[in-house]
Amino acid sequence: MNSLLRGITVLGICMSVLAGSALAGTVLITGANRGIGLEFVRHYADAGYTVIATARNPATADDLNALASGNALITVEELDVNDFSGIDALAAKHEGAAIDVLVNNAGITGRPELQRFGTINYETFESVMNTNVRGPLKITEAFTAHVAASNEKKVAVVTSSEGSIAGATSNRQPFYRASKAAVNMVMRNISHSLKDQGVTVVLVNPGPVDTDMMAGARGRMPLRTTELAVDEMVSVINGATLEQTAAFFHFDGSELPW
Ligand SMILES: NC(=O)c1ccc[n+]([C@@H]2O[C@H](COP(=O)([O-])OP(=O)(O)OC[C@H]3O[C@@H](n4cnc5c(N)ncnc54)[C@H](OP(=O)(O)O)[C@@H]3O)[C@@H](O)[C@H]2O)c1
Repeated sequence: MNSLLRGITVLGICMSVLAGSALAGTVLITGANRGIGLEFVRHYADAGYTVIATARNPATADDLNALASGNALITVEELDVNDFSGIDALAAKHEGAAIDVLVNNAGITGRPELQRFGTINYETFESVMNTNVRGPLKITEAFTAHVAASNEKKVAVVTSSEGSIAGATSNRQPFYRASKAAVNMVMRNISHSLKDQGVTVVLVNPGPVDTDMMAGARGRMPLRTTELAVDEMVSVINGATLEQTAAFFHFDGSELPW
């Protein structure tokens, strides 16, 4: 009798674990090899999500590979957000699969000395715009069917308060600021089409976070941990509704001025 009860209990635990994992969906993250992207991988895998963690150079993505090697929920895929055929090939590889949350995280700032008015480097301008604007747009286009087929139906963009036109009160990093304002605009535009498919766009600012991108600011301003920033951004993503699609969110859930 005791062993029968034990068997029923074990079966119950197995079923609830299975039910739990069925409830947690799938996420795809760009720029997942370091910084905020790597933290998104850790966070979603810990929450039981299946994670498609993309990196433009998986062979050198040591931290991500170490994380993935100990966790069956994480798959590492190669993806350069500027490689359109690579984006289409990855979307085709996952055709028919539901992706609950598409996290457009990969981004670059461009070196500050290449953005100084008077000696502007226009090739750098182009590469910042391509990576931060064209990339997320193309990836969203390629993966909309996957997201629309999911339960959560969320497309997130890790944008920046630097993209706030109202907040641009000095001349600082014009390429980066323009790219974040532009990605907000293209995503707000396409959100009208995505809304018809039940897909919510979430534009979220992580605040100043201690990553390679902010290495130059270490010691000069308070930087937030990747853990805290991702924790808060995931709360914002989870809480965003279709009615609020393409709102420009701060990490605390308040709205930023455009
Ligand atoms: N840190 C902050 O304070 C802060 C504040 C506001 C917004 N953000 C935004 O948060 C996002 C993540 O930034 P982070 O702080 O984690 O920066 P990070 O540490 O510099 O990491 C940037 C990530 O983007 C990837 N990436 C760059 N170009 C790529 C491309 N063409 N294809 C695929 N991946 C590419 C990088 O891959 P590689 O290793 O191959 O270069 C890396 O994984 C960015 O969109 C950034 O603008 C950050």
